[in-house]
Amino acid sequence: SASEEQSILEAYQWLAKLYHHLLYHTKDGKKGLEYLHQRGFTDETIERFQIGFSLPSKDFIVKFLEKKGYHRQLMVKAGFLITNDQTNYFDRFSGRIIFPIRNAIGKTVGFGGRSIGDQEPKYLNSPESELFQKSKLLYNFDNARSEIRKRNEVILLEGYADVLALHQAGVPNVVASLGTSFTDSQANIIRRYVETVVICFDGDKAGQNATYKTLKLLKKVGCHVKIAMLPNGYDPDQYIQEYGADDFHQTILEASASEMTFLISHLRNEYNLNQEGDRLRYVERIISEIALLDSSIERDHYLRELSDQFSLSFEALQQDLVTKLKNSE
Ligand code: UTP
Ligand code: MN
Ligand code: MN
Ligand code: MN
Ligand code: MN
Repeated sequence: SASEEQSILEAYQWLAKLYHHLLYHTKDGKKGLEYLHQRGFTDETIERFQIGFSLPSKDFIVKFLEKKGYHRQLMVKAGFLITNDQTNYFDRFSGRIIFPIRNAIGKTVGFGGRSIGDQEPKYLNSPESELFQKSKLLYNFDNARSEIRKRNEVILLEGYADVLALHQAGVPNVVASLGTSFTDSQANIIRRYVETVVICFDGDKAGQNATYKTLKLLKKVGCHVKIAMLPNGYDPDQYIQEYGADDFHQTILEASASEMTFLISHLRNEYNLNQEGDRLRYVERIISEIALLDSSIERDHYLRELSDQFSLSFEALQQDLVTKLKNSE
């Protein structure tokens, strides 16, 4: 009901405050704080993102919530508490670093909880509910919105930690898709505010595949997309840790690839270019992608690149493209 949802929303705001307080003012919290400092996050960043810590004690927040007058059953529904038997109630996030996830108007509607040891899963998130729908949320959107507008560009990341790291490196127009695959709704939210999106996902196979899918979704809603590619094995946060913010700006962001440059290199993995048949299929595939470009100058540019790279006649490729364009009319 509406009053239940209001109650859960209110509890989220209380808990976010409590978790943040516990990070700084308890002995157990210090472990979490040390972990964050070790990863290079400053107090200013921790404050800005209201990062918190949930005590290892399994029922600390049960008592806290009860004192505030919240019913256990409702808190189970909200996802703060877990119970197997309706008798014993436990804190879902106990012993974890807490990343509050806020909606577009700045209200906390979910938590991401990161383990500080090797506890699995690495991140535990609030369960899906009416209030918390991951597919319709972008992490840090409320914080970043004005900078996204100002810079007319948003940088799309995979993870919570990447958002903190880039923010700290002086790049405030960043959001993350919360690890789930990027969705239509998220693309629509972005498109309402900005046209240009720089995708900067993790530099691994999963990140590259996600980049491809995300690129397609963003094109569908009319975004202009650039790709900031990371070396294999790095995510934005790790890269900044190792090479610093300036290097990240110059080597990764400034060097963002165009969508076609990314596609040309990404789609290559699906074909064995040593075989003539595969090579031709690959060229065909790229031409189909080129046919999707709006600008004839761009189409010409990539067609020429393709012709040079594979020693194919430019005129033949152009003929092929014209046919594809006619068919798609
Ligand atoms: P990553 O595995 O790349 O984690 O997942 P990360 O953000 O780099 O985290 P650190 O640096 O190890 O702390 C990317 C995102 O996917 C979601 C989280 O939102 C995470 O930030 N995720 C990942 C989950 O929800 N659960 C998981 O177990 C793992
Ligand atoms: Mn504080
Ligand atoms: Mn990853
Ligand atoms: Mn990562
Ligand atoms: Mn990471």
